[in-house]
Amino acid sequence: MLNIQLSILGLVWSALGSDVVRRQSLNNATLDSCPGYSASNVQNDGSRLTADLSLAGTACNAYGDDLTDLRLEVEYQTNNRLHVKIYDTAEQVYQVPESVLPRPSSDNVDAIDAALSFTYTKSPFSFAVKRASTNETLFDTSAASFIFETQYIRLRTSLPSSPHLYGLGEHTDPFQLNTTNYTRTMWNRDAYGTPWGTNLYGQHPVYFDHRGENGTHGVFLLSSSGMDIKIDDTDSQFLEYNTIGGIVDLYFLAGPSPAEVSSQYAEVVGKPVMQPYWGFGFHQCRYGYRDVYDVAEVVANYSIANIPLETMWTDIDYMYLRRVFTLDPERFPLEKVRELVNYLHAHQQHYVVMVDPAVAWKNNDAYSNGVNLDVFLKLLNGSEYRGAVWPGVTVFPDWFHPNTQTYWNNEFASFFNAENGVDIDALWIDMNEASNFCPFPCSDPEGFAEESGNPPDPPPVRNNSGRPISGFPADFQPPGTTAKRSLSLRQTNQSTTAIGLPGRNLLDAEYMIHNAAGALSNLTIRTDLTNYGGTSQYDTHNLYGTMMSTASRDAMEARRPGRRPLIITRSTFAGAGTHVGHWLGDNLSTWEHYRVSIGEMLEFAALYQIPMVGADICGFGDNTTDTLCARWATLGAFGPFYRDHNGYGSVDQEFYRWESVAEAARTAIAIRFRLLDYIYSHLWRQSKTGEPLLKPMFFQYPEDANTFPISYQYFYGDAILVSPVTEENSTSVSIYLPDDVFYDYYTHERIEGNGSWVTLDNVPFTTIPLHIKGGSIIALRAESANTTTELRKQDFVVWVAPNATNQAEGFLYLDEGDAIEQPSTSEIQFSYNDGEFRMTGTFGYETSSVIKNVTVLGGAPSNGRYQTQSLSATIDGPIELTGEYSASL
Ligand code: NOJ
Repeated sequence: MLNIQLSILGLVWSALGSDVVRRQSLNNATLDSCPGYSASNVQNDGSRLTADLSLAGTACNAYGDDLTDLRLEVEYQTNNRLHVKIYDTAEQVYQVPESVLPRPSSDNVDAIDAALSFTYTKSPFSFAVKRASTNETLFDTSAASFIFETQYIRLRTSLPSSPHLYGLGEHTDPFQLNTTNYTRTMWNRDAYGTPWGTNLYGQHPVYFDHRGENGTHGVFLLSSSGMDIKIDDTDSQFLEYNTIGGIVDLYFLAGPSPAEVSSQYAEVVGKPVMQPYWGFGFHQCRYGYRDVYDVAEVVANYSIANIPLETMWTDIDYMYLRRVFTLDPERFPLEKVRELVNYLHAHQQHYVVMVDPAVAWKNNDAYSNGVNLDVFLKLLNGSEYRGAVWPGVTVFPDWFHPNTQTYWNNEFASFFNAENGVDIDALWIDMNEASNFCPFPCSDPEGFAEESGNPPDPPPVRNNSGRPISGFPADFQPPGTTAKRSLSLRQTNQSTTAIGLPGRNLLDAEYMIHNAAGALSNLTIRTDLTNYGGTSQYDTHNLYGTMMSTASRDAMEARRPGRRPLIITRSTFAGAGTHVGHWLGDNLSTWEHYRVSIGEMLEFAALYQIPMVGADICGFGDNTTDTLCARWATLGAFGPFYRDHNGYGSVDQEFYRWESVAEAARTAIAIRFRLLDYIYSHLWRQSKTGEPLLKPMFFQYPEDANTFPISYQYFYGDAILVSPVTEENSTSVSIYLPDDVFYDYYTHERIEGNGSWVTLDNVPFTTIPLHIKGGSIIALRAESANTTTELRKQDFVVWVAPNATNQAEGFLYLDEGDAIEQPSTSEIQFSYNDGEFRMTGTFGYETSSVIKNVTVLGGAPSNGRYQTQSLSATIDGPIELTGEYSASL
């Protein structure tokens, strides 16, 4: 099936690719003649500047009609955020609605106090943004005339040569972006194999421009339009937005540190939502579990292998004929599914299933309920719009329709029902770009579905040893218990009600973005459909997944009132982290995908503010190997969302399938669990401040140019440097240690980094190199456990890793782990200064766990009080987590 899809895609792309080249070269000459705009009626009150922009000459009508009258609004919103908005005076051009992305409010600061300054040239109109402290130009649009047409915007900024740019997701390209002849296309799509150089599932038009000691700044274009962002150094270095709609809505973020840019971006798109503590446990999933017994057997086998499985997932396999909100009565009978879920819950484990947006057409309740509430998208003639997805012919919910939330909540209420339905703990949403297997124009979805074999046959019985005929496996051992956004700064005074310019060609924009699927409507919902309220799929396509996410969050909160819903989605838009997490889609079981997943994870966590992120561990498509899976089991343990997921037909890859992988997983999960409160505390901090829980190396060492391109090493929390082995079947890795103090995680040996590359040899497949950054204090659980529930009962130990001046600091956040509103929390700070250890903060959360001891790693050579060769100095506890504490060592 997939092969059919891919070859259709190839044909479409090669047919359309030549068309792109033809149309774009036809227009190059025209673009050069575009007149730009002239500014007039400039008003400036010191914190806000407005002007009228009028077309400065004869329209060039390159890819549509030039708009003649625009409006410029510039706001110094905070000391470090500048907002520049250019929109049509008539306010007809589509803008992302506030219901999808609430806007940050403006403090209207005086320009004189702001870190960024705005300057402009009247005619032809161009503007520049500078860093006030240095007068360095960060953004300058004078390089090419500004074009604003009915279906095309071009805005170019010049950049210094060889810039260090990051972001512009979703992509699998190098973490530090290419800056020569590089195009980043944004048009959300189902992208099996997540090919490099193509548009993938989500849209995050934000980039970080890192200029070393001159600081970092961020630029966010708030737009849901399809676009190509071109970065090139022909003539001189530039970055150019080419959108097929929307307005220019730019947020400039001053930094100056990379982490400050992250926080400032979070102020714009919303701070990420807190996740349940248990969400950091290990998750197992695959596409192709044949039946509930197969699933139960996997649960049992994890237990037998003594690998802590926190959550079991089920893909679309559970559905009857792949229809959402149904159970296959033979393979997943309700009674047995409930037995499985009850079993999991009784053993402090969790259950998650998938829901797709596409609803099977005809003969099922989810369809007729939706028809009754009139929530499905329609063709322009008013008839139902149909495509084809897993169940065959499908219809698609219109998330703009006022009845759709009710519809979705009702379906969740009757299907995901703790009393007599499937009692899920979390949710997985997929195919929400939205994916449609039926190539445009999809005039015969029924014929297509039949030919492509959807719904597919149930998975074959796999070659599992001891597979039970019925019921749970006889040797089903319970996992042992011990053995084993704050959106407060929001304003609503901006007009975002425009439904889109009339008279456009909504199927085929003259400027053709480099959508890897070809035509805009190909393999997705037709772009000429009108949503409820009058907007079109053309303008809102990239919002579909994120709107499904908010609707699903609402539905899950209704099912589990007051509890944090873990929701993992495939398609995202800027700000999605305020309600969901993300997995990185259909990667392949290759070493290249293993490596690429690191940069992708860093992007989502540190740049796009979607910290609950992870790849399909061991790879989704193709067959994994024991060595790849072992390495990935250890790497995945140092990412926020840790799930082994496998594709249909690929060889089994549960961690227990190979002893080496099982051992790697046991070892890595034990470390992950001991560090779980540490990373949970970092998620909490990110949810409050936007400071990321994972940090690329240049975030920690912004002035060390060697760190700028590094994407295979990163910080898990502020303190732990993760340096995975990245080459196939290798046991050595070359790692970069900046000029800083580090401690080997395993031996506590003190290592003086000196800004050079060090080769680590003999790294077993069961180990991942970890170093603790000098200057850090980490609270770890004293022991690991088999479930996160048991883990929470363990005591803590504290490790102090002094820096070169014999100081360190860290923090610990404690709460009950699951409630949206926490009745009481502890926010604890640790500090260490030349032998003095202190614990301060607030201590509201009641816990019987204590700090058993405090260990200073590696000795402290600076003042001679400790022998460098002695590994540590310790304070023996117990230290209660109920109040302040200090001690001298
Ligand atoms: C596509 C998803 O990306 C993948 O994870 C899932 O297994 C399949 N759909 C089947 O639901």
